[in-house]
Amino acid sequence: MSAIMVASAKGGVGKSSLCVGLGRILSEHNHKTLLIDMDVGVRSLDLLLDVAEKTVYNWGDVILNNCEPDKALIHITQSLSLLPAPLFVSEEFTAEEMKKLVELYKQEYEFVILDSPAGIETGFSLSVGSADKCIIVSVPDPISIRAASSASAIVKKSGIEDIRLVLNRFDKRQHKKVCVDDIIDNVSARLLGIIPESSDIALTAIGEELPYDSKGNLAYLRIAKRLCGENIPFKIKNI
Ligand SMILES: Nc1ncnc2c1ncn2[C@@H]1O[C@H](COP(=O)(O)OP(=O)(O)O)[C@@H](O)[C@H]1O
Ligand SMILES: [Mg+2]
Repeated sequence: MSAIMVASAKGGVGKSSLCVGLGRILSEHNHKTLLIDMDVGVRSLDLLLDVAEKTVYNWGDVILNNCEPDKALIHITQSLSLLPAPLFVSEEFTAEEMKKLVELYKQEYEFVILDSPAGIETGFSLSVGSADKCIIVSVPDPISIRAASSASAIVKKSGIEDIRLVLNRFDKRQHKKVCVDDIIDNVSARLLGIIPESSDIALTAIGEELPYDSKGNLAYLRIAKRLCGENIPFKIKNI
């Protein structure tokens, strides 16, 4: 029963892909999981989950009392659901209302995963206000690391103590000189996982399924297991 925000303060680093990958794996392991798209105006999870045409309501409709909380959900499988983002911002989308909503869904879902947008505006601040934990995603380049570091500092200041780092698109050959320890120091967050550069993950953006045994999926699997409290060692050869 926890709400985890996935953030970066920068777009295109793999947050939404990670949310979908984790959601699929957690639900396959019978952990009831709800993905909440926090990217107001630029939803993406409905596309990644191939349910765009089923999207009628969104969490904005629930806050505005246009529909019941259950009615806004899209059920992907028995244990995986999606709550789409609204297309427009409203001043009624306050941190208090969002927190109330997330607390309500937490009663039914073991994992509520909030896919935060790029930047630190509406979707990001609403996520900060309703999450218990945070996963910061970064790719191994200086701009992304700086953005991850800023996001981590803001999240920490808000009182969220459990902040973990996922390093995405790591290529053993290309990033030979990158020091992972330095990135961890910079972002001030314990490492939760490293995801390799993966053509299989890239293909999920155009609707391909991620093969179970692909390195990308196995990296998502190790992260999901760590989230569930399993002690999975970090081995650079797995990446
Ligand atoms: N590990 C990876 N290897 C290769 N491509 C990736 C990887 N992770 C994400 N991508 C690709 O990068 C792009 C941006 O990913 P996305 O999850 O939408 O990022 P964000 O939500 O942070 O904006 C997508 O085309 C996605 O398929
Ligand atoms: Mg995204």
